Amino acid sequence: MMQMGKSNKEQTQFIKIKQESAEKFLKLLKTKLSNEPFLDRRIKVKHEGAYVFFPLIYDIEKVKVLIGGISNHLNFDIVSAEGITEDNYKYRSIEEVLVGELPENILELIPKSYDIIGKIVIVEFDQLNTINDKNLVFYKKKVAEALISVNKSVETVYEKLSEVKGKYRLKELKVIYGDDNPETLYKENECLFKLDVKNTYFTPRLVFERKRVSSSSFKKQETVVDMFTGVGPFSIQIAKNNNAKIYAFDVNPSAYKYLIENIENNKMKGEVIAHNMDVKELLNPDSKLGNYLKHKIDRIIMNLPEQSINFLDVACFLMKKPSGILHFYQFCEKPNPIKKGIENLNTNLKDSGWYIEEILNSKVVKPFSPNSDLIVLDLKLKFFT
Ligand SMILES: C[S@@+](CC[C@H](N)C(=O)[O-])C[C@H]1O[C@@H](n2cnc3c(N)ncnc32)[C@H](O)[C@@H]1O
Repeated sequence: MMQMGKSNKEQTQFIKIKQESAEKFLKLLKTKLSNEPFLDRRIKVKHEGAYVFFPLIYDIEKVKVLIGGISNHLNFDIVSAEGITEDNYKYRSIEEVLVGELPENILELIPKSYDIIGKIVIVEFDQLNTINDKNLVFYKKKVAEALISVNKSVETVYEKLSEVKGKYRLKELKVIYGDDNPETLYKENECLFKLDVKNTYFTPRLVFERKRVSSSSFKKQETVVDMFTGVGPFSIQIAKNNNAKIYAFDVNPSAYKYLIENIENNKMKGEVIAHNMDVKELLNPDSKLGNYLKHKIDRIIMNLPEQSINFLDVACFLMKKPSGILHFYQFCEKPNPIKKGIENLNTNLKDSGWYIEEILNSKVVKPFSPNSDLIVLDLKLKFFT
């Protein structure tokens, strides 16, 4: 286990209590202070003569709360002494690793969340990047090392430098720890995916969404189109659990390459048929595939949230008459993002011959920006007869 250059001894504040009061102290922590983390679990509790020394966390404000909570019940002293770190202590968060390693004002700015994709972590320094400090690179390196020490399977840390952009929905990444090898293996809902974090779109943040959609009730031999499949996480998870035939499209040749590999590497009940093309081409009257799939599809997944609305014509062209299911992802402004999403769809379905017969489900999947959310609408579309 990497120790971040920390020796196994460090100057620590202890609360010094008589042996016979130790149990009462621990009880007070539970009852009066609702088990808040006042004790530094990394450091060993010391026993010296008639006293027990409990190591305190670095947070002075919290220690003040602790003192306030117990001073009427116990005699104690706060002393500073050498603490010995626990062997094999498992750090629970990067903050815990970095306490004492980074200045307190910097600790407040370190990332609170990050994405782990197999051996790769992608981290965004949105708050840290706002400061003008000559040590910025050093702070980022420390965060990267902390990420590695908390997440044992991780070998490379990338900093996210841009939002996803362009037709292929890619983000700029810069390696800040480990080898610059963007290919990784990622397990999700019992499926295995190989992907390249620089050249394909992938987010682990849709894990529950993919589980939810792939666990919906599919008819036997249901035909599905996954319009914007990426490396295939929706398609492959659906085919893993259902005897469905899924046509999976992506315009990015790199995503297609991994999609093919992922289809080969996963055992599936159903079938995934991969196509490397722009789905708009299906509307071309000369498209053999377009003519073949026209009004044959029971269910369509549209996961290109910023632009799905511009591909509704393709969905209407493919959807089986008289009705089919649409899983529609879009970014919508707050407040009332779902109401706005439904209005947007109704407006764009006008004159298509199709309408929303039933809203099977609607929800905010995750916040997208301060002003908007990613939402999903599961809809039954019906053709006017
Ligand atoms: C937001 S990603 C979704 C990937 C995948 N559904 C997932 O959950 O990981 C959108 C994908 O659509 C692809 N894409 C964008 N425009 C397209 C188009 N016109 N036709 C087919 N694929 C397209 C991009 O290359 C990208 O991989």
